[in-house]
Amino acid sequence: MESDNKERVLVAEALFDAQKVTDAVAEGIAKIQNASTLEELKAIRTEYAGADSAMTQASKAIGKLPKDEKKEAGKLMGKLRADFGRAFGPKEAELKEAAENAALAAETVDMTLPVNRKPLGARHPLAKLMEDVEDFFISMGWQISSGPEVEAEWYNFDSLNFGPDHPARQMQDTFYVKGNQAKDAAGFVGSNMVVRTQTSSDQVRALLTRGVPLYIASPGRVFRTDELDATHTPVFHQCEALAVDKHLTMADLKGVLDKLAVAMFGPEAKTRLRPSYFPFTEPSAELDLWFPDKKGGPGWLEWGGCGMVNPNVLKSAGIDPNEYTGFAFGVGMERTLLLRSDINDMHDLVEGDVRFAEQFVMGE
Ligand code: DAH
Repeated sequence: MESDNKERVLVAEALFDAQKVTDAVAEGIAKIQNASTLEELKAIRTEYAGADSAMTQASKAIGKLPKDEKKEAGKLMGKLRADFGRAFGPKEAELKEAAENAALAAETVDMTLPVNRKPLGARHPLAKLMEDVEDFFISMGWQISSGPEVEAEWYNFDSLNFGPDHPARQMQDTFYVKGNQAKDAAGFVGSNMVVRTQTSSDQVRALLTRGVPLYIASPGRVFRTDELDATHTPVFHQCEALAVDKHLTMADLKGVLDKLAVAMFGPEAKTRLRPSYFPFTEPSAELDLWFPDKKGGPGWLEWGGCGMVNPNVLKSAGIDPNEYTGFAFGVGMERTLLLRSDINDMHDLVEGDVRFAEQFVMGE
């Protein structure tokens, strides 16, 4: 019995090492003082006051000490715990406050900063479409041409085989411009001036200035004396295409049209030609477009005009129609956009409301 007791005390003494626990707590307090984050502080608490710490182990060992030593050991442990707590508490409060201050500083909104007075605009969908069309032609190796908007009547009508009494020349369609002194790069002098009613006006101009073989697309603004309503506007945009080379046929025309339809309206789009009349093409055709409509029922829609270049047009440019043939087509850009983007009212296109244009911005 006696020897049993003695052994227990020895084990307990081995576990309760006053010097060791005092040193450990001192070390913990020193670390607390140097801690700079709450995470660090938490880790110190686990190491020096957690279940496996010297302090906890020593406290547990007290119970196994002989009675007379228990009191002393208990006192020491009480003091060490208090010392540790007095170091830990204020440090924790200090670090918490610092963390809160840092978070507040990071989230501060400076109400005195000026607002952005130059909000970003959005590109007009029509400008984007014109670029898409240009890209299509450039990808085929064609050139982009653009004639003047104030143009000699000769280029706009006469050179394109419009007879002198053609109804399109009448004042109700055409804006005439005062003065009749046209002189331009092609050397043409003397004609009434108009604001062009069609980009076809660039056909003979391009043939004269660039020569043959010629593959051009001519996108731009055109003008007609129409009132602005849901489907008309007096200023609108077209893209003319003209190819003049040896051996061109209507099959070449159809191939380019189908490719353009696919580029603008997706892989299933296709075109159809209906016999028609234009002074500057022979034969001429109305150009219809088919593409799977977003709203369901697909259908054929009128898209533009086209045909084989009339020999008289080639002659206007001094080109021998027995040697060269050509094809041409013209499509309305507003019409293309209305169809492609399912817009119902021309007013939306011309009013310049940025909220309209913003709907077409696609992260670019
Ligand atoms: N210029 C015509 C218009 O404004 C469209 C057009 C029709 C252009 C037939 C062409 C064509 O090149 O071949 O209505």
